[in-house]
Amino acid sequence: MKKFPNRVLVVGGTSGIGRQLAQTYLNRGCTVAVTGRRQSLLDELRDANPSSQLLTLASDVTAPQFLTDLEVLVERMGGLDLCIYAAGFGHNNPGLDLETEVNALRVNADAFLPCVIWCTRYWDERQQAGHFATISSVAGIRALGVAPAYSATKNFQAFYLKALRQLGVTNRSKVRYTSIHPGFVDTDFIKGHHYPMTLTLEGAVRCMVRGLDRRRNVVVVDGRWRMVTWLMHAFPASLWTRLGIFFRES
Ligand SMILES: NC(=O)c1ccc[n+]([C@@H]2O[C@H](COP(=O)([O-])OP(=O)(O)OC[C@H]3O[C@@H](n4cnc5c(N)ncnc54)[C@H](OP(=O)(O)O)[C@@H]3O)[C@@H](O)[C@H]2O)c1
Repeated sequence: MKKFPNRVLVVGGTSGIGRQLAQTYLNRGCTVAVTGRRQSLLDELRDANPSSQLLTLASDVTAPQFLTDLEVLVERMGGLDLCIYAAGFGHNNPGLDLETEVNALRVNADAFLPCVIWCTRYWDERQQAGHFATISSVAGIRALGVAPAYSATKNFQAFYLKALRQLGVTNRSKVRYTSIHPGFVDTDFIKGHHYPMTLTLEGAVRCMVRGLDRRRNVVVVDGRWRMVTWLMHAFPASLWTRLGIFFRES
């Protein structure tokens, strides 16, 4: 029986969650293509996985040739079953530094959009089943004043996939979309911070892959963070706005 997914593309897989996801699918025998800007980390990944099942390409999602890079990799893999958009940028930014906000927009929204559209068209034009997933965040569940653009763009990703799910029904598309919402995960992304309920990278990625295998629409990582998101939803808007005081950094 043909296994699914067979060919996996991880956009932003040089470190952290993307890298661990890439390694998991490689260990399963999939052909995996990994992108990211840091060539040295792609080389490290290659050294750890000398098999021909791994393809790497140094690629910046904000660069004009980003989609060409995707095309090249998918052609080299001989097709695409699952694309995971793991590239992300964001910092706490209560001072509203403009560059930080704009960078979050560029990586988490401006580049995410052509990526998901390219993949959708690729599968729809071939009338193929495909699966697109993005690493959103618990921060995308409700607006967070401490990281406005990060929170807004992570919400955008999930909301956009929701819209594509409905469009897919209209278009009789065979594409599945998953938004993954991790709580804090122990990666470079939160280095130097001591956040509560931080998940191990391995545990968090196991939970993500389980959700992807089940082709869930939404995966909150993990069970404890599911409780948190339930609480986040439960707060009335006026109370949620006032809660910002607890996120103030000393
Ligand atoms: N760690 C957490 O607590 C947490 C929680 C919720 C959501 N997330 C999300 O999880 C995703 C992965 O983050 P992580 O925790 O694994 O942190 P990470 O280790 O810093 O990984 C970020 C990845 O994004 C890639 N990336 C960033 N900008 C890029 C660009 N312009 N072009 C191409 N690739 C780019 C990086 O590769 P290069 O630098 O080599 O380009 C790296 O592979 C992010 O979307 C983040 O928002 C993380």
